Amino acid sequence: MSRIEIVEGDITRLDVDAIVNAANESLLGGGGVDGAIHRAAGPELLAECRTLGGCPTGEAKITSGYRLKARHVIHTVGPVWQGGRQGEPNLLARCYRNSLALAVVHGLQSIAFPAISTGIYGYPKRDAAEIAIHEVNMIPMIERVIFCCFDTETADLYREIAGV
Ligand code: AR6
Repeated sequence: MSRIEIVEGDITRLDVDAIVNAANESLLGGGGVDGAIHRAAGPELLAECRTLGGCPTGEAKITSGYRLKARHVIHTVGPVWQGGRQGEPNLLARCYRNSLALAVVHGLQSIAFPAISTGIYGYPKRDAAEIAIHEVNMIPMIERVIFCCFDTETADLYREIAGV
């Protein structure tokens, strides 16, 4: 069985060691998946995020999961799509790499990613999915990696690219 799973639905419901949040540099919440995670985790998450001093694009920081089933939240900040020539592919790859590295350092065995940057930040979905799957394949230390897709079209795209 592949260690990569494609799941369709709401990432806040997943029972994993960590879910990844597509945050912004403030780490103080927002819309999209970020808003959903903060609503589901409760105000304690925002309180911990306030202590982190933000997060530069491409980097990642870990917190507790509070009221989520997930034990941790790994907050990463994807690039805003500006046409692809402003280093967006490298920054998006670094989001996956740095999130996975944090998971390894903390001994986590399961992690779920949303499609970082492909909502409000406008990154083309296919290009983003190719980067996500490539980076996960480069870091084989985590037993279970879930790509949590919010709609069927995105899930089908991931299945096609990952070959699962
Ligand atoms: N579960 C899984 N995926 C979701 C969920 C959910 N509950 N909700 C949305 N998605 P976005 P970004 C998908 O916009 O593009 C925030 O305001 C969504 O369909 O959440 O990285 C932050 O604070 C899309 O495919 O994140 C930043 O300011 C993907 O998650 C900004 O948005 C990412 O969409 C970040 O923008």
